[in-house]
Amino acid sequence: MTQPQYRSGTSRRSFLRNVGLTGGAGAMFATMGALGLAPTAQAAQREQPFRALSASDFTLTGRAAARVVILGGGIAGLATAYELGKAGYDCTILEARDRTGGRNFTVRGGDSTTDLYGNTQTARFADGHYMNAGPARIPQWMITLDYCRELGVPIQVFTNVNADAYIYNESAGMTKPERYRTAKADVYGYVSELLAKATNKGALDKELTATDQERLVEFLKDWGELGDTLTYEGGERRGYTTVPAAAGTPGVLLGDVPTASAVLASGVGRYFSFEFGFDQAMLMFQPVGGMDQIPKALTRAIGAHRIRTGAAVSKITDTGHGVTVTYTQGGRTKVVEADYCVAAMPPNILAKVPHNLGSGVQSALEAVTPSSAAKIGLEYGSRWWELDHNIYGGITETDQDVTHIWHPSYGFHGERGVLIGYYNYDDDADSYAKLTPAQREQRAVAAGVKIYGDKYRTELVSSFSHHWRQTPHLEAAWHDTPGGPDDARYKPLNEPTGRVSFAGDWLSYTDAWQHGAFSSARKAVTALHTRVMTA
Ligand code: PHE
Repeated sequence: MTQPQYRSGTSRRSFLRNVGLTGGAGAMFATMGALGLAPTAQAAQREQPFRALSASDFTLTGRAAARVVILGGGIAGLATAYELGKAGYDCTILEARDRTGGRNFTVRGGDSTTDLYGNTQTARFADGHYMNAGPARIPQWMITLDYCRELGVPIQVFTNVNADAYIYNESAGMTKPERYRTAKADVYGYVSELLAKATNKGALDKELTATDQERLVEFLKDWGELGDTLTYEGGERRGYTTVPAAAGTPGVLLGDVPTASAVLASGVGRYFSFEFGFDQAMLMFQPVGGMDQIPKALTRAIGAHRIRTGAAVSKITDTGHGVTVTYTQGGRTKVVEADYCVAAMPPNILAKVPHNLGSGVQSALEAVTPSSAAKIGLEYGSRWWELDHNIYGGITETDQDVTHIWHPSYGFHGERGVLIGYYNYDDDADSYAKLTPAQREQRAVAAGVKIYGDKYRTELVSSFSHHWRQTPHLEAAWHDTPGGPDDARYKPLNEPTGRVSFAGDWLSYTDAWQHGAFSSARKAVTALHTRVMTA
């Protein structure tokens, strides 16, 4: 099995920082396609083959089902209990928070949180409206969708990219937002023009035969909507000020095509490689009614009686013939005894729990560092972004500290809706965290008004902000795992020697995705079951 190259979060980092060459990846890939170099269709496998356990594994071999205590009721912990449950394992989940799901958290009216700074908020969103404070989009290749299918969780399209959403780079001198489609037309247009002209001047004579150069220029004319003289002069791809309609109304094109220099200076091209990412390309999906339909369905399948909420782990002891886990619940100290333990808590929290699992485990846990991310849900009394801007879902990209603004991919044409007013990371997320919820709202709204106008303020009904680094019992949005999950220092976590094993997205190549949690849980389940069946 060839290992994918671990890029230490490069794809996420480049996405987060939004740096990159203007239109580079897109133009390059399309060029390869035109030249017949792009990969042909392949049946991609979702992951390494996984064999689900079955009840007969125990009944046919006369073994007793082992007792397993699972630490953490996030996706990895729930998936572990769910899969072990298929063979009849006696599982108990200890979850410190008052609900399962971990970072998979959907906020609805009435939901309350208190962050580590002591800010308490209660969401006031109207019935049927919600924000996914954690995971919010699922690519088609991730096994998260397999679990949705298996658990009967209905899904709908999540719009990750929208030609009608905006780009706003204030630091580049933009005074008003620009539609994605306009920015793309200009960037692809000029990149095509420049490459076509360079080709015709012989700049690629060493790289390409004359015939291939002709093919390339032919492709670029189409890709960049170039005229016969190979110049980009704008066109309908940029958009209209009056759209085409009935006879007599041919439409009025957006005027003022900027120069190549102005387009490069605007920095709009930095956002376009995002949609080429293996994990961010459309189509993307979301569960109907909120991402937490996934943990809710898992919780039902496992059985609520197996899950102890409000149960914070305080000590883990591998006794050699079993595992003893001490936890506090409602101010009282309690104990669970089991044959095995799967620790599916965040590494930064686990690192603070006393245990006897060895210094290798402890230093591995301490090497993993927590990262910040945050979202604010802004509830509006009208869907003005649909009514006034014709934007139905998708993301507006900014160089402001709000970073991304998400339009809801559900409830179209309804009376109201919840916009994500910021989805930001690192220092931006932390600086908003230090404000009161009312101040966070104020600052986010001020940024949005610059892009969308006054309704961003006047139509606002309520808001709710969530900061993962400041969330009790989690204290991270995701994690940085230096060296990648297969680095030697994580061996005691990936190939545990005792009775305690580990699971979580942070032990996968898709950290910050539920797929990572699910696939890591499957790996832990397979290893545990193999051990039990060969004991
Ligand atoms: N899965 C999260 C998201 O889609 C975090 C992430 C972003 C992970 C970008 C990888 C790349 O927003």
